[in-house]
Amino acid sequence: MANRPLQLTLNGQPVGPVEVPADLAMIDYLHEHLNLTGSRLGCGQGICHACVVIVDNPDGTSEQVRTCITGAHYFAGKKVRTIEGHATQDEAGNVTLNPIQQKFVDLFAFQCSYCAPGFVNAATVLVESAQRQPVNKSELEDRIEASLGHHICRCTGYVRYYDATRAVLNELGLVKEG
Ligand code: FES
Ligand code: FES
Repeated sequence: MANRPLQLTLNGQPVGPVEVPADLAMIDYLHEHLNLTGSRLGCGQGICHACVVIVDNPDGTSEQVRTCITGAHYFAGKKVRTIEGHATQDEAGNVTLNPIQQKFVDLFAFQCSYCAPGFVNAATVLVESAQRQPVNKSELEDRIEASLGHHICRCTGYVRYYDATRAVLNELGLVKEG
């Protein structure tokens, strides 16, 4: 398969243009070309969602996209965030996790952590959506299920992931009566 030039924005930084095989899966591009191995290859068939990244759309919304079944060239010109892009580091080297990451740690939401990057991205998309439009209390559980429900955790850590996501939404004041 011939190479084609690929250019995108990744975790706020421009990448490329670089010549990339036209049929290269995004997860292979991240792992093999950029050495970003945080996006996990689970099923490789679009089922487990361990491999999702975040795509930030021009209208300000964002979405999860599975990288095992999506070609790298789909992301051409797009703004993409991976698990490596969430934490920040100050000049002294102190790392600050994003609120979801920190809450997952605080509440021991994962065990082996293989699924954790996907859950972090899923919950981050939900929290950011709620920052634009708070979630009605009556819809909270459905919204969490819609965001996290496709993600498979083989250590069966679902309850704590859900608890942590709910806690972040509540603590940030993103749940309103209704
Ligand atoms: S590895 Fe992509 S959905 Fe399972
Ligand atoms: S914590 Fe092990 S797969 Fe989810």
